Amino acid sequence: MKTPEEVETEMQALGWWYQHFQFPNGVRTGTGKEPGYDAQARWKLIDSYVPIDLKGKTVLDMGGNSGFFSIQMKLRGAERCVLVDPFIEFIKQAEFAARQFNVRLELVNDDAHTYCLTTEERFDYVLFLGLLYHLKYPGLVLDRLAEMTKQRIFVQSNIIGTVPARYPEKCDYERSDDTLLEDPSFPKLFFIENLYNADPTNWWLPNFTGFEAMVRSAGLKIINRPHPHVIVAEPDTYFGKVVLPKLVFPRYGKKRGAIFPGSQEYDLSLWQELIRRSKEADR
Ligand SMILES: C[S@@+](CC[C@H](N)C(=O)[O-])C[C@H]1O[C@@H](n2cnc3c(N)ncnc32)[C@H](O)[C@@H]1O
Repeated sequence: MKTPEEVETEMQALGWWYQHFQFPNGVRTGTGKEPGYDAQARWKLIDSYVPIDLKGKTVLDMGGNSGFFSIQMKLRGAERCVLVDPFIEFIKQAEFAARQFNVRLELVNDDAHTYCLTTEERFDYVLFLGLLYHLKYPGLVLDRLAEMTKQRIFVQSNIIGTVPARYPEKCDYERSDDTLLEDPSFPKLFFIENLYNADPTNWWLPNFTGFEAMVRSAGLKIINRPHPHVIVAEPDTYFGKVVLPKLVFPRYGKKRGAIFPGSQEYDLSLWQELIRRSKEADR
């Protein structure tokens, strides 16, 4: 049994932690001060939609990072939890974190596109949190995840713009409806060619209505939206899938950014920059 001091040292050696949370021995991931993002607060938004007892259930945590959400699902008794993340640094953190809670995660060092397009597995619960806007083909992954969901999917995305009361909807738009389509409340997905928030892995941002429209179009029924950024949904229209014998997928990336799909390693200088910035934020 390792002392909290030893665990703290090992945790720090695993680099920059995006998800800050506490291990059962009291050690907290991260550098000790307020994180830029609060994983616990995100969990609070969805936990009442997750059954207390997940015995016998399977979970997919897409873009699961260092495993905070997967661990919560395992602590509720999930039989199996598959965490997919293309960054080997996060997979190592998730392996370490799961060990602290004495739970076992299935860790897959892969990209969302490649994983979703090469498996026929389906899961009772799917977590798709903080990832949609990082993908070059978000609709493709969302459609596959919808098909892969047996019971419930949790989708979180940053959005652009305000929360409109309603938007003018027609069941068939005409070319003369251009102004209606340009209405800020009309469902939209914004393409970001350059960097966004200094992050080369940001590609698309929906507006409030666009986020919902994408989820519905994947064949899902929206159960609730506990926050503008969070949608809880269930399978509604089952479109099914087509299985083809060969997949040839384009690789993509931004200047000086990672190249997806495939497993990734953080550029050492970026990783050190992230550690430097999080320490600076702590001062
Ligand atoms: C903003 S974080 C969200 C992490 C976690 N889901 C959460 O809500 O706290 C985005 C995560 O997605 C992963 N990611 C980025 N690009 C990905 C891709 N193409 N496929 C799968 N995961 C990806 C990142 O490595 C990171 O762990």
